[in-house]
Amino acid sequence: MKQLVIRPGEALRGDVVVPGDKSISHRALLLSALAPGPTRIRGWLPAEDCQATLRCVRALGVPVEEETQFQERPPGSATDLRVQGVGMHGLREPDNVLDCGGSGTTMRLLAGILAGQPFTSLLTGNASLRRRPMDRVAEPLRRMGATVLAREGGRLPPLAIRGGHLRGIYYPLPVASAQVKSAILLAGLFAEGETIVVEPGPTRDHTERMLRAFGVRVERDGSTLHLAGGQALQEVEGGELEVPADISSAAFLLVAAAIVPGSEVRVRGVGINPTRTGLLDLLAAMGAELEVMTPGQEAVGSQRWDARDPASLSRIGEPIADLRVRPGPLRGLEVAGDLVVRTIDEFPVFAVAATQAEGMTTIREAAELRVKESDRIAAVAAELTRMGAQVQELPDGLIIHGPTPLVGTEVNSHGDHRLAMALAVAGLVARGETVVRNAEVIHDSFPGFVETMQALGADIQWQEQP
Ligand code: S3P
Repeated sequence: MKQLVIRPGEALRGDVVVPGDKSISHRALLLSALAPGPTRIRGWLPAEDCQATLRCVRALGVPVEEETQFQERPPGSATDLRVQGVGMHGLREPDNVLDCGGSGTTMRLLAGILAGQPFTSLLTGNASLRRRPMDRVAEPLRRMGATVLAREGGRLPPLAIRGGHLRGIYYPLPVASAQVKSAILLAGLFAEGETIVVEPGPTRDHTERMLRAFGVRVERDGSTLHLAGGQALQEVEGGELEVPADISSAAFLLVAAAIVPGSEVRVRGVGINPTRTGLLDLLAAMGAELEVMTPGQEAVGSQRWDARDPASLSRIGEPIADLRVRPGPLRGLEVAGDLVVRTIDEFPVFAVAATQAEGMTTIREAAELRVKESDRIAAVAAELTRMGAQVQELPDGLIIHGPTPLVGTEVNSHGDHRLAMALAVAGLVARGETVVRNAEVIHDSFPGFVETMQALGADIQWQEQP
């Protein structure tokens, strides 16, 4: 095992590119597998979570070649894939259990596709994934006609799925989850009749955007999505998809730049899909200097972040922009409602920003954080408290009082990549040395995190764990 050692240092300065978006990388691969011919995916994220999807797709009989490294991004952080799509009915029964590693997106999205297949598949994952609720996908897929078995009364992985003969359903989502929505829409492709999903709040819509890029009609009417069953994916225009940089990885650099005095950091080509930009709204509202620029343009034309601004659309219909952050005097604030869903993966690092903000920050209506890669409410509260922060745990969120001077100490990732990186960012403003134990999990989503932080001037190193 490896740990990270972080010491406070100079201001962070520079212009960087972060790896491809994790959510979009999973979807690009899964949908390319169902396409009727080859698709090239540029800037695909080769992190552990996406490697799990790649393993599963290959095990289902889809040939995938890994091509050149994508030049602009840190070594090992991007790959081009060539996927030989097998069409809607070309997947074959895997001859072994499908291992989803620690990736909830792999297990839930794949469950949707497998529910539509006339064969049996078994899905498992690591200890963290085997603790995460799967009834939220199993239940609607059963209603559509699939057989889905799971442990603990149908709730926990491993899953056994016998698919085929699905019918469309009308399904108001009980939780605002893009993974569940996506699983149902993907199953809906194989169903007879229409599938209708109603969202309680705006969850990330990458699946819908990418289905459209593959020629599938998905209509949105307010919070309701309609998809007619029996549609086949077409070849994507130009045979190529390009994955934007992951805003959830950029988040660590943006918060670091917002709290380390004198910093100025620009992150290029970041996906700013409005369902993902909660952290940008929060940082701007807290008082950080946050600017958004058309990719590749110089400061001319840059403007303060405003969620209503149109951005450049990539070929797969995803908005992208360059982001630039400088610190400002940060103030605490309250977060609840739709903003929670739009910030869902960023709370560990947002909590770090809150420790440095004047006054009280309250996060509520975020109980979903308890069923992520770790219980992120309990884990964030425990680890930041060790560093001297004033954090109070709520059943559905956190209360953080700031600003507090943090103190370097030994903290633990709880096997959660986003917690490991958030604690490393906290270490940049803590007195003395911070050691993040079990930090290798960072590779689940952000290979190159340490090199990128070093390129910005941070004092951060890997060390063998004693
Ligand atoms: C994801 C959706 C979110 C998010 C996860 C990735 C996706 O989970 O937290 O990291 O790619 O669809 P939920 O759908 O459980 O909210």
